[in-house]
Amino acid sequence: MYHAAISHSSAMLALHEDPAFHGLLNPPPDAPGRQFAGDGHGSGSFWLPEFGPDLHAGPEYSAWQTAHRDEVFRRIGADRAVKVSGHNLIFPNFSWLGPVNTMRVWHPRGPGQIEVWAWTFVPKDASPEAKAGMRRGTQRSFSPAGVFETDDGENWTEVQQVLRGWKSRSTEFNVQMGMGFEERDSHGLPGLSNDVYSETAARGFYQRWLDLVDGLPWDEILRRADEAKRSEHAGENR
Ligand SMILES: [Fe+2]
Repeated sequence: MYHAAISHSSAMLALHEDPAFHGLLNPPPDAPGRQFAGDGHGSGSFWLPEFGPDLHAGPEYSAWQTAHRDEVFRRIGADRAVKVSGHNLIFPNFSWLGPVNTMRVWHPRGPGQIEVWAWTFVPKDASPEAKAGMRRGTQRSFSPAGVFETDDGENWTEVQQVLRGWKSRSTEFNVQMGMGFEERDSHGLPGLSNDVYSETAARGFYQRWLDLVDGLPWDEILRRADEAKRSEHAGENR
C-alpha cells in the first residue's frame, strides 16, 4: 500500500480536480486501515469514511451506490462495505482492486514473464450510464492505457530488473515491514491483520507458496497453516 502516495501522485492530480478524491486515494500515514493474511490470501484497505459517493466512476455510478447503500449493508455488512475496499488476492492468482472495480487473473508464463487477464465489473442492474462511468473510470486508471496501470507497470518491471543483478541475488530480500505487529481478531474484524502499511500479506503469500512447493506432506502444510492461524504474531513464528 505504501507505494501509492509516491507512485500515483501525478496521476491523481491529473485525473481528479476535486481535492476530496486526493484525500481518499492518498491518505495520511495514520489513516485507519488494515492488511490481512491467511492461507496465502491477502487483503489491504484504507477504510472509507463512508460508503459512496464514488468519485472515480462519475455521478451516475455514485448515485447508484448511494441509492443501494442499505441493500449493500444488508447483504455484506457495513464493516465489509467500507473496510474491504482496496487490494485483494485469493491465493494464488485471482485478485481485484476497489474502488476501481478491476479484477485480474495472473498467469505465469516462465521466468521473468507473466500474462495478466483483466476485467472491470459493474452491478448488473445499474443504469447504462452508471456502467459506462465505471468502464470509463477503469479505462482511465487501470487498463493497458490507464495512468495508474502504467505507473505500476514501471515499478514492477524495474523491481524485476534490479532483482536480476548480482548484488540483489547475493542479498536477502527484505519483506519485514510490520513484522511482529500482527494482531488476531482486532479492530472488529476476524483473522490475522496488521497496520495497512505493512508487508503481512506479502509474507503470507510467499510463505504459503514455499510450503506448497517445498515437497512437504499435505498434513504438514495444513499443520503449518493452522499454527499460523492460531499464532498471535505469525510474522515472528513462521
Ligand atoms: Fe499502484
